[in-house]
Amino acid sequence: MKKRITILGSTGSIGKATLEVIEEQKDTMEVCGLACKENVELFNAQIAKWKPRYACLFDPSREGEVAFGSASRLTGLAGMKEMVRADCDIVVNALPGSVGLEPTLEALRNGKILALANKESLVMAGRLIGKLLRETRATLIPVDSEHSALYQLLHCIDGAAELRHLVLTASGGPFRKRSKEELKSVRPEEAMKHPTWKMGTKITLDSATLTNKGLEVIEARWLFDLDHHRIKVLIHPESIVHGMVELRDGALLAYCAHPDMRIPISFALNEGARTELPFGKVNLATLRKLSFSTPDVERFPALKLAYDALDTGDSALIVFNAANEVASAAFMEGRIRFTDIARLIDEALTHHARVPKIEDEHIIWDIHRWAMHYVMERLRRSID
Ligand SMILES: NC(=O)c1ccc[n+]([C@@H]2O[C@H](COP(=O)([O-])OP(=O)(O)OC[C@H]3O[C@@H](n4cnc5c(N)ncnc54)[C@H](OP(=O)(O)O)[C@@H]3O)[C@@H](O)[C@H]2O)c1
Repeated sequence: MKKRITILGSTGSIGKATLEVIEEQKDTMEVCGLACKENVELFNAQIAKWKPRYACLFDPSREGEVAFGSASRLTGLAGMKEMVRADCDIVVNALPGSVGLEPTLEALRNGKILALANKESLVMAGRLIGKLLRETRATLIPVDSEHSALYQLLHCIDGAAELRHLVLTASGGPFRKRSKEELKSVRPEEAMKHPTWKMGTKITLDSATLTNKGLEVIEARWLFDLDHHRIKVLIHPESIVHGMVELRDGALLAYCAHPDMRIPISFALNEGARTELPFGKVNLATLRKLSFSTPDVERFPALKLAYDALDTGDSALIVFNAANEVASAAFMEGRIRFTDIARLIDEALTHHARVPKIEDEHIIWDIHRWAMHYVMERLRRSID
């Protein structure tokens, strides 16, 4: 029996990389469902090639443009959730932002294997997701390269007692060398030039502000059930070492791989089994150097705000994520400066009503909406 794989966000960077992994391993895997938002042209080509049992277009107004063929016609969030519940084995959640949360919860409630790229789900609902993982037979395997690295490293050590710290690496983004003053005037198109990875718009901007690393620290806190003070970040521009674990005796285990998302995606789809892959390997002899430094939170305050939010409690994590979504979109529309993104996140965090522990999905969405509204209102006034 081939593994039946459903991909949410199939036309995006992770979605397309997932299809390339399946193409490479088509003796053991097949596509069960595909979903995207509005890229009908590519979606039609994917449906024609992969002949999925289910296809879902998020935007119902464009349903008529989709050549569903023999696939069940689905639309909207409800359609995506129906597809997740259907007879697939693995759900790859490659949606960007908060829209990924409901499909994540649906996959876990239905006992699926969830290959999770959508880190925002864990940021918004880490405690609830942990509860669902304990109460159902669902499994969550991280797709984010740093978390895949740490997941693999943690399987090599003998339990939590051996562990002192986790280390997440960050490329530092395109503005690693810009001064605080220069950061005020960077333009959206400059922020889209990531030095190592080719990714979707949201994560590329999140990488430039280091908000992405903040989201990843929060993701790691929930994924590995670890106090956030034991999760460190190091800037590593070469993106060869993706994660490290520091052990009690001072030893450091590092996971190195060629920076290609198809490697962690394959690891997740194979549920941890290793297969031959043609996606590149690390040749230490030809690498001139591997460098590491501590992040500068003066210039990139969003990373510190993520740690502050973890100190504050669950409500702050939801606010951090929602405020970032609104402020980042405003920056991409040219409405605010790059440096205003962290400023608006900070303001929203300062003004929100703290709730330390949240397992209720309704409360999560209430706080999410409050934070979005707060930043939108703030944007209506001048922010200088
Ligand atoms: N890219 C990477 O290398 C990478 C690495 C680690 C983690 N991640 C995480 O993976 C997630 C996806 O990132 P990405 O870079 O692949 O994003 P992306 O390239 O922007 O792709 C997003 C995909 O989701 C679809 N989509 C967006 N909004 C949707 C909605 N409301 N309903 C249904 N489909 C929707 C898009 O459809 P359309 O094409 O029709 O708009 C597209 O297929 C993010 O959480 C990111 O942080 C990405």
